[in-house]
Amino acid sequence: MIKHFEEGASEGKIEKPSDPNIIVLFGASGDLTKRLLMPAIYNLAYHDALPEKFAIIGLSKDQMDDGDFKDKVAKDLQEFGKREFDSSLYEKFSSEFHYLSGDFDSPQTYEDLKKKIEEVDQHFSAKATVTFYFAISPAIFQMVSDHLGEAGFSKMEDRKTRVILEKPFGRDFQSALDLNNNLHKHWLEDQIWRIDHYLGKETVQNLLAFRFGNGIFEPIWNRNYIQHIQITVAEEVGVEKRGDYYDKSGALRDMFQNHILQVLSYLCMEAPSSFEAETIRNCKVEVLKSITPMSEEEVQKNVVRGQYGPGEVKGEKTQAYRDEENVDKNSNTETFIAVKLFIENWRWSGVPIYIRSGKHLKDKMAKVIVHFKRAPKKLFNIVETEEVHSNELRFYLQPKQAVSLILKAKVPGSKMALKPVKMFFDYQESFDSKEGGKSTGYEILIYDALMNDPTLFSRADLIENAWEIAQPIIDHWSKTPPKDFPNYQAGTWGPDAAYKLIEDDGHNWRD
Ligand code: BG6
Repeated sequence: MIKHFEEGASEGKIEKPSDPNIIVLFGASGDLTKRLLMPAIYNLAYHDALPEKFAIIGLSKDQMDDGDFKDKVAKDLQEFGKREFDSSLYEKFSSEFHYLSGDFDSPQTYEDLKKKIEEVDQHFSAKATVTFYFAISPAIFQMVSDHLGEAGFSKMEDRKTRVILEKPFGRDFQSALDLNNNLHKHWLEDQIWRIDHYLGKETVQNLLAFRFGNGIFEPIWNRNYIQHIQITVAEEVGVEKRGDYYDKSGALRDMFQNHILQVLSYLCMEAPSSFEAETIRNCKVEVLKSITPMSEEEVQKNVVRGQYGPGEVKGEKTQAYRDEENVDKNSNTETFIAVKLFIENWRWSGVPIYIRSGKHLKDKMAKVIVHFKRAPKKLFNIVETEEVHSNELRFYLQPKQAVSLILKAKVPGSKMALKPVKMFFDYQESFDSKEGGKSTGYEILIYDALMNDPTLFSRADLIENAWEIAQPIIDHWSKTPPKDFPNYQAGTWGPDAAYKLIEDDGHNWRD
């Protein structure tokens, strides 16, 4: 399941998907397509990791023909692509690019689509697998899914078909359930591939490799040895041009319910018996099921929300969230969340997990820190120059990609004094990863779909369980509007209450 697309990181050649494949891109002229999907597919072409018989059918309202579409993608790749544009590679890559202009709500569009697919089949002399990629607003997921179902695309005798969707999968437990039920009206669960782009990150996948590929960690990966865990996913950017979406979403829905719970499930799941997709997915769901949804009192005590006011990020003056484009002037949407939660199972019972995530924070940084229990006796005179009292295993997920272990070592000299020191593994150095920065994070996910490997995609039950964890927070917040927003200055590490949340337990965020 773990593949590398970064030069120098791969031992051998990447296996080429063997099934002929057609990707039908709903939203072919949209932002996701041009910024991430096309650059990712182009990277796959560069690595020769696309099937020999591979086509893209772009679909959107815009009037274009196949040639215009090819030209548009070429232009977008030159602007947004992650690597130098190579016209001869592009010529080959785009040889089966097709375009269909149509209204997504018209049955005619789906009839036209059928014809296009058959046309490609003829070029391939095969019935290709068809992947319908929803690079469209979630508001129309259901409508497009219904049209595809009614046109017979979900149950085709002579070929495999599937849909790929991206978050948000609903905006609370009930709407996620409704979305899943609606999709299931037409598609079997194994035809629905839900993307969480965090799972495409090498460093996130490495959590599993690190835990289960090294015999030394698993025996101590539990409540007997681990004191607490910190997960920080901090962003420097504000809401940018996405105020319209974000103001209806907020940090809880945008980051916590999905990306962060995915990271948490990798970090805390039981050892799988294999790297088979269903085994891993079952293990992840089990972790989420062991997090008891909070009572109202627990939400009050263990969850902090914040919204940025004006400030300065990396030397640039920035405006308050409420002054951002397409944001309500009185918005109560949170741009920051901190949560303390517990996984109530045999492995983790009693180990607090502190999570925080927010926009316009001091630095861009995603990291996980596992704090081990300190040695039982303070035998040594520890030099308290850093606030490190115990061993820590730190996973730097981005932008720094590294793992470090904080140990204590003797300070040279006549006294037996100790000081924290670091053992450090850096991706760039260890894997001579010259390609670093050239990946969008979608390559592995799209490649896995072409390889029919759903491991990195989320099943309906995982999404629903994640919403069950978020739901009491949504409910409590909707009843109690915040009185203190904005409560943190842009360019800081968030509201004071987030410090209190962890400091009251005698710990500190590792900024
Ligand atoms: C997206 C959120 O899912 O993830 C964005 O909608 C957020 O608000 C982004 O900025 C963060 O992704 P990454 O890969 O930059 O950490």
